[in-house]
Amino acid sequence: MLRYRKQSAEEGGGSSNGSPPVIQVSDLHKTYVMGDVQVHALRGVSLSISQGEMVAIMGPSGSGKSTFMDILGCLSKPTQGKYVLEGSPVETLNDNRLAEIRNRKIGFVFQSFNLLPRMSALHNVELPLIYAGVGRRARRRRSMEALKSVNLEDRAHHRSNELSGGQIQRVAIARALVTNPSIIFADEPTGNLDTKTSAEIMSVFTDLHERGNTLLLVTHEPEIASYCQRIIRLRDGLVEADEWIKEKCDAPEFEAVGNERM
Ligand SMILES: Nc1ncnc2c1ncn2[C@@H]1O[C@H](COP(=O)(O)OP(=O)(O)OP(=O)(O)O)[C@@H](O)[C@H]1O
Ligand SMILES: [Mg+2]
Repeated sequence: MLRYRKQSAEEGGGSSNGSPPVIQVSDLHKTYVMGDVQVHALRGVSLSISQGEMVAIMGPSGSGKSTFMDILGCLSKPTQGKYVLEGSPVETLNDNRLAEIRNRKIGFVFQSFNLLPRMSALHNVELPLIYAGVGRRARRRRSMEALKSVNLEDRAHHRSNELSGGQIQRVAIARALVTNPSIIFADEPTGNLDTKTSAEIMSVFTDLHERGNTLLLVTHEPEIASYCQRIIRLRDGLVEADEWIKEKCDAPEFEAVGNERM
């Protein structure tokens, strides 16, 4: 089992669900400049996400979802606007502190996986622990646990180019979880997966949510979004809708796969 960081509501101030805000953004803009052309990917996004929420980010292709997630994951900076992460304005954090936050608090599942193709699944999962300076034995153990949590321990020594698309996606999720992050960002974690594999992955995320972690998932699929408590819809770089669909997470659209570790 992974040792997840369980958080309590007593740890700080309060907001919508009684837990402290983990993420607060106000008037967030991102403009990409390509030669003479400017692309306004985000045009003033303001919202707050509390500790322990499970949120779906939806919206058409090109609406700014990945751009938004990259900023929230401290992988890129906004052109304008404010991002306060666990009470700290991100622009005031130096590069070392940002790297530390990325390593210790944030797990990021990328839309394009970013696995190293010639390395084993196990080694790919180990990478964040190498960056964090974790010793070899502990690294191995924790990486195997993370692979087990996505039901892939039997593929640990396969190279990522010897895995199926769904398995690669699960390795990417194991890699995001191995550092025991309290905030997990996943950009289309079930894109192109079959229903059964999607349900397995959502079971992992639901379990993480029930352990008190904060999750933000980008998805195009309503049935994936239905696992979440809240759906934020982006359109043309703005929040078009922000609605709570339920208090507690369950899995209405897929057959239950249970909460045992897969
Ligand atoms: N590095 C970049 N340079 C220039 N333009 C970019 C860059 N990244 C994204 N864009 C543009 O910004 C807009 C938002 O892109 P983004 O990737 O955030 O969309 P998305 O909502 O994630 O779309 P999808 O559902 O297709 O993944 C798009 O018009 C895109 O072409
Ligand atoms: Mg995207």
